[in-house]
Amino acid sequence: MARVALVTGGTRGIGGAISNALKAAGYQVAANYAGNDEAAQAFKAETGIPVFKWDVGDYDASAAGVAKVEADVGPIDVLVNNAGITRDGFFHKMTKDQWQAVIRTNLDSLFNVTRPVWEGMRNRSFGRVVVISSINGQKGQMGQVNYSASKAGDLGFVKALAQEGAAKNITVNAICPGYIGTEMVKAIDENVLKTRILPQIPVGRLGEPEEIARIVVFLASDEAGFITGSTIAANGGQAMI
Ligand code: CAA
Repeated sequence: MARVALVTGGTRGIGGAISNALKAAGYQVAANYAGNDEAAQAFKAETGIPVFKWDVGDYDASAAGVAKVEADVGPIDVLVNNAGITRDGFFHKMTKDQWQAVIRTNLDSLFNVTRPVWEGMRNRSFGRVVVISSINGQKGQMGQVNYSASKAGDLGFVKALAQEGAAKNITVNAICPGYIGTEMVKAIDENVLKTRILPQIPVGRLGEPEEIARIVVFLASDEAGFITGSTIAANGGQAMI
């Protein structure tokens, strides 16, 4: 039987590409989304991938969401914690709301969604957890103290949980994308993107969502069973850390 994969934030951007790539690789995919009903329904109609709406920053909603996915699609073998947001601004102007929204969605979500999935993976002695962190969690980024902190926190989560999962054949890995051509990156001021960011990318272009999705498919596979607690960077050479 096909393995079941849940992708958070799985209807748009990098997450949409991950959902599609996992489906193409033979998984039964469920895509979570938080708010954009129109995009989610269009994604579902186009791909046939079922969509499940809940806020990954909310523990109870995540537990209920995971239970619904498992009832409708099956026990989750592969979890891709992809959902993330930015609320950029210099620290001297950053509000508590900007800080909390980002920590909640990008870091609390890892506990909220992985915790209800984890015991099933342990009981079945198989699991793949992939966390989409960021280059900016590795190197830090001005204007993103909140986001960089959340994404660095994601890496600590992965390294600790990987040690717990190893004996049960559950791998836990992080991918750190660089600047990928999604709505999130296109929202950056064009001048900042052109003059400050693109010149720092040696390959001379933004990445494609599919370039991240292919790594997820590999990490989810049986062939990747010896890779755990790792951080895989895909950033066009922008940072070699
Ligand atoms: N690198 C270098 N310099 C930067 C910079 C950057 N990334 N971002 C801003 N600056 C510079 C500006 O060019 C400007 O310099 P000058 O005064 O010399 O022109 C100065 O900092 C002030 O910038 P702004 O006028 O833009 O200040 P602001 O208060 O209007 O906006 C900001 C601040 C919201 C942080 C805005 O600069 C911004 O959006 N910067 C980009 C931050 C960023 O890289 N976000 C990544 C989003 S994508 C993502 O997060 C996905 C991922 O994982 C990689």
